[in-house]
Amino acid sequence: MSNKLDFFKTFVKDRDVASIVPTSLRCVKKVCANIDFSRDLIIVEYGPGNGVFSKYILERISPDSKLIMIEANKDFVAQLKEQITDPRAEIHNILAGDVEEALDPDDVGSVDYVLSGIPFSFLKKDRKIAVLKATKAILKPGGKFLAYQTSGHLKKPVQEVFGNLETDFEPLNIPPYLIYKVVKNGV
Ligand SMILES: C[S@@+](CC[C@H](N)C(=O)[O-])C[C@H]1O[C@@H](n2cnc3c(N)ncnc32)[C@H](O)[C@@H]1O
Repeated sequence: MSNKLDFFKTFVKDRDVASIVPTSLRCVKKVCANIDFSRDLIIVEYGPGNGVFSKYILERISPDSKLIMIEANKDFVAQLKEQITDPRAEIHNILAGDVEEALDPDDVGSVDYVLSGIPFSFLKKDRKIAVLKATKAILKPGGKFLAYQTSGHLKKPVQEVFGNLETDFEPLNIPPYLIYKVVKNGV
């Protein structure tokens, strides 16, 4: 409960948090069902908030996998640093569009999954496209972009940058989420 209250207090101070409560476990499971945890992975997470996806992922990835978290809100970064001490995890207080700064140069173009909860609907079209292009640049060929959003507003920009898209819907979440499943085809 205190996690939910802390999350709400952070939302009140920063509307870019965009949700009043963390994502439900049911929705976390539905998004993460698209991840093949049997291999060593590099996973990048935009907007981990208080870490509901991050903790779930860290319980499932192999010892040689990595989780790189990109979070804009300083309060969430402080909470994450306090709660997550797993050596496979890194927490960076930067914007998603600057993700390349956080990566080891060898990992650029080798990321298996980018998971995103950031509210793309708050970004102007050119910023949406810039974040999507930065995401495509860090993914490996065949790598996946998995995003949970409140509506279909991201379909057109995703098609423009990636040229493909599947969606799934999770109605039993506050807010209900459309789950975007996108593959980086080619190089
Ligand atoms: C809807 S919340 C999702 C939080 C968490 N992943 C969850 O599912 O409960 C959106 C998160 O994205 C962060 N955020 C918003 N814009 C961002 C950006 N441009 N770059 C990185 N993080 C951002 C917010 O601070 C917040 O933690």
